[in-house]
Amino acid sequence: MLGTSYRLDQSRAPFLEGLTQYSLDGIIPFHTPGHKQGRSLDAQLREALGELPFLLDVSDEISSLAHDNDSAAVLMEAEALAADAFGADRTFFLHNGTTAGIQAMLLAGRQLAELERPGFARDDMGEVILPRSVHRSVLGGLVLAGLTPRFVQDTWDTEWNIPLPPPVAAWQAAASVAHNPVAFFDTYPSYYGITGSLQQIARLAGKWDRPLLVDEAHGAHFRFHPDMPPTALSLGAAATAQSAHKTLGVLTQASFLHTKGEELSELMPAVLGILQSTSPSFLLYASLDAGRRQMVYEGKQLWQQALELSHEARERINQIPGLQCLGKEILSKPEITYWDPTRLLIRVDGLGLSGAQAEKWLRQAGVQMELAGLNHILALITIGDGPSEISKLVDGLRNMAHQHKGQAQRQAVSLTALPLPGEMRLSPREAMLSSWRQVELAKAKDDVAASSLTPYPPGISVLVPGEQVTARSIDFLKECLQKGIEIRGWADAKRKTIWVVDTD
Ligand SMILES: Cc1ncc(COP(=O)(O)O)c(C=O)c1O
Repeated sequence: MLGTSYRLDQSRAPFLEGLTQYSLDGIIPFHTPGHKQGRSLDAQLREALGELPFLLDVSDEISSLAHDNDSAAVLMEAEALAADAFGADRTFFLHNGTTAGIQAMLLAGRQLAELERPGFARDDMGEVILPRSVHRSVLGGLVLAGLTPRFVQDTWDTEWNIPLPPPVAAWQAAASVAHNPVAFFDTYPSYYGITGSLQQIARLAGKWDRPLLVDEAHGAHFRFHPDMPPTALSLGAAATAQSAHKTLGVLTQASFLHTKGEELSELMPAVLGILQSTSPSFLLYASLDAGRRQMVYEGKQLWQQALELSHEARERINQIPGLQCLGKEILSKPEITYWDPTRLLIRVDGLGLSGAQAEKWLRQAGVQMELAGLNHILALITIGDGPSEISKLVDGLRNMAHQHKGQAQRQAVSLTALPLPGEMRLSPREAMLSSWRQVELAKAKDDVAASSLTPYPPGISVLVPGEQVTARSIDFLKECLQKGIEIRGWADAKRKTIWVVDTD
């Protein structure tokens, strides 16, 4: 039953239908891809995947999918259905994940500023106001768009060892000192399913007359159940990118980019054209088309089940001595406005374990987590889980707790506070395009970083391209190393060197 009214006939999945028809029509393909609908496959690959996916893996060289049905027109029809379903003015199917969507939003955001006030953001002077904890694809987007970040520092939660959304006052302070603000950019929700008040950030962006662009990688399902947080678009985002592949029944790399308003929508095809492969996977598109239809018709019921399973799992996990699963009490923290209950964030330090140790133990017991943090692990529950998967997870956790019962409590690995960013001496783009040299981290004070350096966990960059390296950043990174935290982005991981801008 459709609970929401839609403008278009949501029962159709034109891209999936067209693609299936093409394979049924028995057309002999004298076009890419070279496997020719699975006829020339390595035997082991055929054994692993079967021929069926290859039968549907045709390329966009074909002008018509079914009869005289133009494949570009079919794609537009499927995208229009998705826009209708997600409450967008326009939707674009992405075959290079939300990474491409984020980069497209930043490029289009810059162009929008240029169109409104020619020369406005020339010479890499345009700034984007955004939290420090953004995904690394955003840094790539800043490089591509020639924009400079004006970071808003996240609050660090020492209990759970996760970043919390920056308070609105911190956004206001950043906006008031920004030079030529081009856009506001926020992550909604975080990896942990928590959000700040996006509505207030949208209002702030409105006051500055700038668009709010959103990384909604983990929120493609929000629209389809009333107990989920509201969608970014409904709270005032001008554009939002969603990794449909992360939470819906959709193939990996398939994402949606939704826009509101004519100007941003009009810019998107041009910017996406330079960011994505010219050979989109039609399998990805078909899965987005079908995933949208499934959500419209069954989303509420499927997410109801996922929510019930998550609540049950949370209760059972919280009964296991030594473990703690984050619940709705998190909403009492002033930084947090909404929370997605299908994210099971589980503290394991009560067993004397780090997140990485717990993840390894569980893997050996046949259960794989989404991520391992300093003192926690994260399990995602989606529409693909059922009672037996939940039991497997809870049993694994119970056995792990039993085996580590009474183990001497180890000082949990924790980080006290993230260092404040150093001064931006160059735009990320200028730093990327400068000549570089390698220097040992310990000797890099006052140099300008040429690439980012990011400890995992928590996955927040301590250095970003163009930023001056501070003594505090070096100390923090050394602290991460001492605590056994992996750092990504070294020039040479063995010698602990980083790339910096060569000013000589
Ligand atoms: C918060 C966030 N944003 C963006 C991305 C990039 O999404 P995609 O993998 O769809 O390119 C990810 C991926 O993990 C993410 O966690």
